[in-house]
Amino acid sequence: MNIVMAASECAPFFKTGGLADVIASLPKALSNKKHNLTVILPKYRAMPSEIQSQLQFESSFDVWVKWRKQYCGLFSYKQEGVTYYFIDNEYYFNRAHLYGEPDDAERFTFFTHAFFETLNKLNLVPDIIHCHDWQTGLIPLYIKAGVYQHPIKTVFTIHNLKYQGVFPLSIFEELLHLDLVHMGGLELNGTINFMKGALVHADWVTTVSPSYAKEILDPYYGEGLEKYLAERISSITGIVNGIDEEIYNPQSDLNVSVPYSKNYAGKKENKRIMQQELDLIISNDIPMFVLISRLVEEKGLPLLTHILDELLSTETVQVVIMGTGEARFEEAFHSISNRFPNSCRFINVFHEGLAHRLYAASDFFLMPSRFEPCGLGQLIALRYESIPIVRETGGLKDTIKPYNEFNGEGNGFSFTNYNAYDFLNTIRYAIHLYYQPTHWNRLLKNVYKSKLNWEHSASSYLEVYNMLTMQVNEEEK
Ligand code: GLC
Repeated sequence: MNIVMAASECAPFFKTGGLADVIASLPKALSNKKHNLTVILPKYRAMPSEIQSQLQFESSFDVWVKWRKQYCGLFSYKQEGVTYYFIDNEYYFNRAHLYGEPDDAERFTFFTHAFFETLNKLNLVPDIIHCHDWQTGLIPLYIKAGVYQHPIKTVFTIHNLKYQGVFPLSIFEELLHLDLVHMGGLELNGTINFMKGALVHADWVTTVSPSYAKEILDPYYGEGLEKYLAERISSITGIVNGIDEEIYNPQSDLNVSVPYSKNYAGKKENKRIMQQELDLIISNDIPMFVLISRLVEEKGLPLLTHILDELLSTETVQVVIMGTGEARFEEAFHSISNRFPNSCRFINVFHEGLAHRLYAASDFFLMPSRFEPCGLGQLIALRYESIPIVRETGGLKDTIKPYNEFNGEGNGFSFTNYNAYDFLNTIRYAIHLYYQPTHWNRLLKNVYKSKLNWEHSASSYLEVYNMLTMQVNEEEK
């Protein structure tokens, strides 16, 4: 099958969040199953220069946006069976940030036109076009509107419903150049909403976990789109993300000080080195808790700031927090770590290598999210044998089963209500079991057995693609 993906970020080229990891690993997993995978992305300034120098120039052409012709350069890069094409336009993509620019609507409308023009130039007629998040939300609509001559089936994946691409109504006429009949599918409360456009027009919608697929039908999680999701409930599937077990591998990860696998003594060496590095008390017996996250409200940080003081003053623990984000959280974590210099560290940057070493060093990984479409941190934590403590929402609920002392099942700890004391009590229970070797060893064994790669989920995506291409054959009969 010829599968073409459109996305707005992909590691190791450029990354702001988990989407980049998915686009880095899902296409490879599908290509391993003997399909042709093409990924089309913008060429942002953030691309590392050593990769830039390896790009192959393919062609250049013009794309109409508003009343102007815009230059579009096309570069390619091949890796592990996947071909990546980068859409180059300095004016739109040579910016300090990937998104959040005042002309985002125009930038991604340009990207949409350039995407179709790329397929034309390459003479590539896909069997399936798979789009990710709002930045690519116009693609299914433009196909339905006949802007692209081939009526290819589209899949749209929601990675996070909170970010929708909302713009003034005026862009419909000024920028999108569509017939008025298409206004209804894009309009929401007097604005143009790219995510809605995709939800209404894609042939199939997926989201990154089965629980999130159900949750978003409820106004609490639906971000104002629950009504449109409910209307197409029979064509929405939740497919949990995997991780690339080669990139995240404590045995071969060059960031990790002492390589290890399924060996707690080896892991503890990493903890000792980290304690030394962070100037914490060096002790095997003190459990180390780590949180690595963008510091935003939805990650459940209000719960952590509420209980951190009490946790650090009543329990013998070490807590390390890494990330950047909202000032209120950064200030709170700076202040708490100053008050608890022996047991709390706040690392106010995001550093990939150090993040890997924290996964390796920690005993527990905290993810108290208010909502979490899938979450990759808990999967990486399992891979580095750090026990996740999560709130039961979205993908966290689907991937972490709370440890049960009576039957010995479960690969982590979890709590249901979005409540700081439920979180604290769960942490206390986890500490209690940490000192009980029988339970702790059973828990670790379950962690070692957790299925984290793409094998199963890539097959689920293929089932969706196959079903849609069969529909095409039926329609043609
Ligand atoms: C978004 C979601 C996260 C998910 C990731 C990849 O960042 O917030 O939960 O894991 O996308 O799908």
